[in-house]
Amino acid sequence: MADSQQQLDIPASEQIGPTGRPLVEFPEPAPLDEHGPARIIAMVNQKGGVGKTTSTINLGAALAAYGRRVLLVDFDPQGALSVGLGLNPHDLELSVYNVLMQSRLDPHEVIATTAVDNIDVLPANIDLSAAEVQLVGEVAREQVLARALAKVADEYDVILIDCQPSLGLLTVNALTASHGVIIPLETEFFALRGVALLVETIEKVQDRLNPGLQIDGILATMFDGRTLHAREVIARVVEAFGDRVFDTVINRTVKFPDASVAAEPITSYAPTHPGAEAYRRLARELISRGGAP
Ligand SMILES: Nc1ncnc2c1ncn2[C@@H]1O[C@H](COP(=O)(O)OP(=O)(O)O)[C@@H](O)[C@H]1O
Ligand SMILES: [Mg+2]
Repeated sequence: MADSQQQLDIPASEQIGPTGRPLVEFPEPAPLDEHGPARIIAMVNQKGGVGKTTSTINLGAALAAYGRRVLLVDFDPQGALSVGLGLNPHDLELSVYNVLMQSRLDPHEVIATTAVDNIDVLPANIDLSAAEVQLVGEVAREQVLARALAKVADEYDVILIDCQPSLGLLTVNALTASHGVIIPLETEFFALRGVALLVETIEKVQDRLNPGLQIDGILATMFDGRTLHAREVIARVVEAFGDRVFDTVINRTVKFPDASVAAEPITSYAPTHPGAEAYRRLARELISRGGAP
C-alpha cells in the first residue's frame, strides 16, 4: 500500500505499473453506432481457480457498461458462470449442451437475458460433461461450437467463452470458434506451469483448424502487490510473454468472491471498488488493442 500511496503525487505517465511498464491511461471507448458481428474470445487456462470465470463475468460486464452487446458462453459443466449471473443450472431445460448436440436447435431458444443490461448468457450445467465423449464420434467435431455461435454472432459485439479447466475437445471447440484467446494467470509461484502446453494447444489449433486465432493477452489475476513474490511472478510472466501481458493487473480482493455469492458482476455489486475499476480498465485496454470493437 505504501508504494501506491507515494505514487499519488507522481503524474500517471511517470508511474511504473505492476508489469514494470509505465502506467498508461486507456481512453474511454467511443460508443458504437452499429452492432455486430461479434469478436469471439475464449478465456482459457487448463488450471482451475485462476480467475477465468470471474474475468469472463467482469470483463463482460465492463464491456457491456461501455455499450457493447455481450454474450457470455458458459462452457464449463460446473456452471459457475451461469450461477454468477443469477441462473440456477439445475432448473435449465436447455443449455449449451443441447446446442452442441442438436444441430437444428436454434441457440436463441437457449440464450437467457440477465439482470445486467447488454449481457446475455448461453448457460451450462453438468449435462455438458457428457458432451466431451459424445462429440468424439461427430463429423467436424472441433467445429460444433463455431457453427452454433455463427447463428447469433451478428447480434453481439463481443462473445466471451468461459472454458473449463482442461485442454480437451470442448476447449478445442472454444479455440476453434474464437478470434482471440485471453489467458488468465493467478499471480503465484506455479503460474507458468502448464502454460507451455496451453500455448502448444493454441498453435495446433492455429495450424489445423483456425489460422486466424490470436493470443489477445495474458491477464495476471489475484495479484498481491505487497509481496515481493507476486512482483517477481509478474516479472517472470512479462519476461516470457512481453507485450502480450495486459498492462492491467487484477488485485486479490475478497470483493470478488463476495460478488459471486451475490450472483452479480463486481461492476454492479461494488461499482466504485478498485476491482470494478480494474475490469473497466481491462475493457478499455482490450478495446484500445483492437481485441474488441
Ligand atoms: N482477484 C481476485 N481476488 C480474490 N479472489 C478471486 C479473484 N478472482 C477470482 N477470485 C476467486 O477465486 C476463485 C476462483 O476463481 P474463478 O474465477 O472461479 O476461477 P476459474 O474459473 O479459473 O476456476 C473464486 O472463488 C473467485 O471468487
Ligand atoms: Mg471457472
